[in-house]
Amino acid sequence: MNVLLIASSARGHAIAEALHRSGSRPKIFSVSPNRNPGLLALSEEHIMMDIMDFDAVLAFAKRIAPEFAFIGPDDPIGAGLADVLNAAGIPCIAPKKNLARIESSKGFTRELLRTHGIDASPKYHIFTSALLKEIKTYIEDELQGQYVVKYDALKGGKGVKVSGEHLSSVDEGVAYALECIAECGRVVLEEKLIGVEFSLISFVSGTRVADCPAIQDHKRAYAGDTGPNTGGMGTYSDANHSLPFLSQADLGRAKEINRAVATALKQECGEDYKGMLYGGFIAVRDGVRVIEYNARFGDPEALNILPILQSDFVDVCRAVISGELADDGVQFQSKATVCKYITPLGYPENKDQRGEAVSFPAIPANARLYYGDIEAANDGSLLLGGSRAAGIVGIGSTISEAEHIANTVCAQVSGPVRFREDIGTAELVNHRITTLKQLRD
Ligand code: AMP
Ligand code: GLY
Repeated sequence: MNVLLIASSARGHAIAEALHRSGSRPKIFSVSPNRNPGLLALSEEHIMMDIMDFDAVLAFAKRIAPEFAFIGPDDPIGAGLADVLNAAGIPCIAPKKNLARIESSKGFTRELLRTHGIDASPKYHIFTSALLKEIKTYIEDELQGQYVVKYDALKGGKGVKVSGEHLSSVDEGVAYALECIAECGRVVLEEKLIGVEFSLISFVSGTRVADCPAIQDHKRAYAGDTGPNTGGMGTYSDANHSLPFLSQADLGRAKEINRAVATALKQECGEDYKGMLYGGFIAVRDGVRVIEYNARFGDPEALNILPILQSDFVDVCRAVISGELADDGVQFQSKATVCKYITPLGYPENKDQRGEAVSFPAIPANARLYYGDIEAANDGSLLLGGSRAAGIVGIGSTISEAEHIANTVCAQVSGPVRFREDIGTAELVNHRITTLKQLRD
């Protein structure tokens, strides 16, 4: 059987590896914007292409006639690549454009939750015209100056600005809100929630939902959660598939919300969502709220999830496509994982190390190396791109053990690179536990 993989980063390498492990022995045909050494090694054929050029992707797809396609990144999903492939008779693990609004429009998501009685949003309002005075009053009176401004379309993870972090006054917030309206016609203003974030990604086939382990991501560039936001510097998951700071009720509620959202999407759009549904949650003083939804695997979250997937990945994809996905149909090993991204020294501020060589040590059995923005040169050397270079995952019985494994490998990578030593350490994990405990005491 042939499988088409549309990839862009280390997430694509992790997906390819999970497909490759399948008893169905699929032949992987992959496309990505760079010559990714991981995809090259695992693919029957790997082609570098602009994955937003749907005509080119479709022509390749028709030539290889895959049983299904797996679409990794948000941009092609948001722009409707699944619609194009479905129309050519190729089922996709990725929702169609209309359903992918759960990620591409923050306003759609908030309205979906409201219309379908899913009580998990902060206080919010959507403005569609430049009502300067009303916007200012809303921020000051309704949100009491603690607010978040959300651009209502995909913006490479840079559309959200939070008061006290990216916006230092109400006027700056108003100005950004007006900018959003001018650019995309709508802006979401919402209450700034205080708590601890986590993600719960589920396989979804219509109203059938099977969950992956919960994950904690670290978006800030530097140790101690400082510096600018990035695509994610690293992640951890625990052996019990929950997180040390979450109660059973918290995780149960996140699972319930993902199920309610899958059902709401079916009712709203009149067709089945088939793909990964990524709930971005925050555990707050009195429960769990939704921060955002994504219509895909997270990156790095996929790097934690896929190496410990016990079920056959091709079988799971087939169940998503056929509608036979069972609630307990996706099994994971009882292992903790810690993923740390190796990035160029200048990431995310500059791309000065682009084209410089990087080399990796031998990877032990309890670790994984997934290549991201790295180019395999003809002479066999590996060259840095401008973005996250490679995800190193440690797999152990505890988060601490997994952290130690990941850190040891990361420390042996040579080149002008860095990583966050603190991700997954007891100190950082305990800090999350204390933060939430203090909020709830
Ligand atoms: P996004 O680009 O949607 O992933 O949002 C980026 C980040 O903004 C999230 O990971 C949160 O840290 C933060 N954020 C978004 N919405 C809220 C909110 N209502 N309250 C607090 N933080 C938020
Ligand atoms: N790790 C965050 C994301 O994939 O959006």
